[in-house]
Amino acid sequence: DKGNHRHFMEKEIYEQPEVISHALSYYVDLAEHRVRDTAAEIDFANLRGLAISACGTAYLAGLVGKYWFERYARLPVEIDVASEFRYREMPLSKDQAALFISQSGETADTLASLRYCRDNGLKIGAVVNVKESTIAREADAVFPILAGPEIGVASTKAFTCQLAVLASLAIAAGRARGTLTEDEEKQLVKSLAEMPRIMSQVLNLVQPQIEALSRDLSKFKDVLYLGRGTSYPLALEGALKLKEISYIHAEGYAAGELKHGPIALIDENMPVIVIAPFDRFFEKTVSNMQEVAARGGRIIFITDDKGAAASKLETMATIVLPSVAEIISPMVYSIPIQLLAYHTAVFMGTDVDQPRNLAKSVTVE
Ligand code: F6R
Repeated sequence: DKGNHRHFMEKEIYEQPEVISHALSYYVDLAEHRVRDTAAEIDFANLRGLAISACGTAYLAGLVGKYWFERYARLPVEIDVASEFRYREMPLSKDQAALFISQSGETADTLASLRYCRDNGLKIGAVVNVKESTIAREADAVFPILAGPEIGVASTKAFTCQLAVLASLAIAAGRARGTLTEDEEKQLVKSLAEMPRIMSQVLNLVQPQIEALSRDLSKFKDVLYLGRGTSYPLALEGALKLKEISYIHAEGYAAGELKHGPIALIDENMPVIVIAPFDRFFEKTVSNMQEVAARGGRIIFITDDKGAAASKLETMATIVLPSVAEIISPMVYSIPIQLLAYHTAVFMGTDVDQPRNLAKSVTVE
């Protein structure tokens, strides 16, 4: 049932504040501002490394997770798409654990990677939406994302719930490994707790502007997304979402890679979507944006109030979000990214919930 929404995808985008709040209460104690002890099976304290493997959007959630595990828990993360991970023949040792992320829990490549790691003696964690799935059944520890059924083929609420779970696990790992002080943990959990409210606010705030902007975006054949830090996986996710439902060719790049190749493509026919909260990377990203502007590129700038005030560049549109703590920015910035893909596809008249050639669950390698 789509309720009063036109598509399941739209409904699922709007459900995010609620399902994230549900997922968070499973992983964190919102009164005490502490993460709950949900990861005992994994023994983060004694791990030498973590291997993450997944496909598509779930892989991109894992890539954000890598930044968090390394930063907050000082835990080295190996990550690859499952179809490559399985065959890389990388050396694995028993003092590593492996984490598999899958909405459906049935993705064939992800399952094959899981079995490969299990055969090598690693402890297996599964971040899944479907708790009865094969991947969940074969894991030592199951971390449910509690997003509820996701019907739209393009993943939206599963992505942000995967992120909420990975953020909680990274904090749990940081506590177990003694790399976060109690006070730091409290601050991070407080920021997570604010997320549902901020996401609701952002949904209302940006929707009209993004719907109008989508009309302009639908005229282009190619779009480039740029970001740094955790905004880099988000740039990849923005490009994936746009191409899969609007069929506009889109690519995501680390902003710093621009001058190593893709800058050759910049002209007035390829809008560049820059995801840049006012964080540690902001100035560097703005200088990449200047390189785009200097070559006549059109910029869609997704930032916060401080970022908007700090940049003087002319843009095709500037989408201004509230300033938020760094740990929640990937979830909050997912909203404009998802809405932009959604409205562009609706405007172009594609089958948003059932894009051509795609299946919700990919059970062949
Ligand atoms: C993109 C999308 C796919 C899936 C991928 C993995 O919007 O939905 O890229 O993320 O097929 O699926 P799961 O998470 O079920 O393993």
